[in-house]
Amino acid sequence: MSNNLILICYIIAAVLFILSLGGLSNQESARRGNWFGIIGMLLALIAVSASETVTAYGILAVSIFPAVLIGGVLAARVKMTEMPQLVAILHSFVGAAAVLVGLSLHLDKSAVHHEGIAGVIHNIEIYVGVCIGSITFTGSIVAFGKLQGLISGTPLLLPARHLLNLIVLTATVWLGVEFVSHNVIADPTTSLLVAMVITGVLGVHLVMAIGGADMPVVVSMLNSYSGWAAAAAGFMLGNNLLLIVGALVGSSGLILSLFMCRGMNRSLISVILGGFGTGDSGGGGTMQTPEGDITSIEADATTQLLKAAKSVIIVPGYGMAVAQAQHTVAKITKKLRENNTNVLFAIHPVAGRLPGHMNVLLAEANIPYDIVLELDEINHTFGATDVVMVIGANDIVNPSALDDPNSPIAGMPVLEVWNAKNVIVMKRSMGTGYAGVGNPLFFNENTSMLFGDAGENVDAILASL
Ligand code: TAP
Repeated sequence: MSNNLILICYIIAAVLFILSLGGLSNQESARRGNWFGIIGMLLALIAVSASETVTAYGILAVSIFPAVLIGGVLAARVKMTEMPQLVAILHSFVGAAAVLVGLSLHLDKSAVHHEGIAGVIHNIEIYVGVCIGSITFTGSIVAFGKLQGLISGTPLLLPARHLLNLIVLTATVWLGVEFVSHNVIADPTTSLLVAMVITGVLGVHLVMAIGGADMPVVVSMLNSYSGWAAAAAGFMLGNNLLLIVGALVGSSGLILSLFMCRGMNRSLISVILGGFGTGDSGGGGTMQTPEGDITSIEADATTQLLKAAKSVIIVPGYGMAVAQAQHTVAKITKKLRENNTNVLFAIHPVAGRLPGHMNVLLAEANIPYDIVLELDEINHTFGATDVVMVIGANDIVNPSALDDPNSPIAGMPVLEVWNAKNVIVMKRSMGTGYAGVGNPLFFNENTSMLFGDAGENVDAILASL
């Protein structure tokens, strides 16, 4: 393929990636956005493979086909609830790729030798690419471990950890200067390898220090890091398209992280440095343990309450995703609306385990978009609502976020469901949610607990409706 044709393919692919991001920002256009991304990526792969820099087609085929097969099977098999882990591990691959590209470019003696300022810039590209890649790689693996439950969600708070981070950062900058100037360390490979190891340790430390409730921001931050790692690889390889894609992923991941932080009332820097609500950043006291009597309810009695209600708000959470209850919930919604009940859905920005997790589930079940409202839009309406049905949600409806300054989720805006006349909470036990915090909502006088699998309970409600 001629260079001009490749350039045209790159431009078209870049435009498709921008359209893809635009499409993904809205539920109605998300499918179209996905297709733009898929076509853009296919075009990019074909153009790169057909360029004159690629000659080893045998090696390319041997590495691409098994990867396509493994990736395809994994993506087809993964459950919606395991998506965050998959995303985290995929981020680690981008980080590893940036490290490997940087190391191989540095070690490849046959590569074009850059002189003068061009050489310095090339070395900086390699160094930055390896360091960002290394943080992304190890940080994403720890995030995977935490999301998969292999590593405890409790933040690891080493003494003087901020100082430790500062020392590692300073050492990384110093090693970078050494890598380019060789003033103290004569062998640049040593500087590069030491920097790779210490930034890898920094990646582990930064994610280990983050508490359960703040994990959503970490996942989107690692998404952003993986974009910057790809952009760095684009710089190193002189590939403009990789650079553009990396910058798009990096900046959109950063914007998403800022949105998530706003949703959780956190500052980005405090989440990245970790330790929220753990004594050194919380209220300084002991977290309250909710206790009291609870009221249980059965599915039939819940149906009676729903039948009598003029207004119902449904709050879906992670448990609805586990129980795959969204299709039955859609049928219940339809029946209630036929009965002239006003039904709305309340979506918390960090409900579930993925940004937009609940929106995806509700869209899959064809719930009309206009009755699905965000926290800011719906929080003031709970007071005038007859019945709130909380389906497998916990942290996002926990009043201790507002009442208890020592709670790990203190300050996080929550759905104020307790203001409604009746609150039905569907879950299997009195167990805690992702953040591991007890929930006083369950002990309120106007709260009734409908214990059991949410899937079975909504089936029973639908049957009696
Ligand atoms: P959680 O606080 O995790 O609560 C989910 C509840 O669902 C659990 O208490 C569990 O109680 C119940 N449950 C699980 N399986 C169930 C089933 N089959 N049937 C009925 N109930 C079931 O979820 P949430 O309220 O959606 O809050 C999300 C949490 O995850 C936040 O802390 C958030 O920070 C964190 N997080 C979010 C993300 C993103 S991006 N959204 C990513 C990582 C972490 P039982 O065991 O008693 O049934």
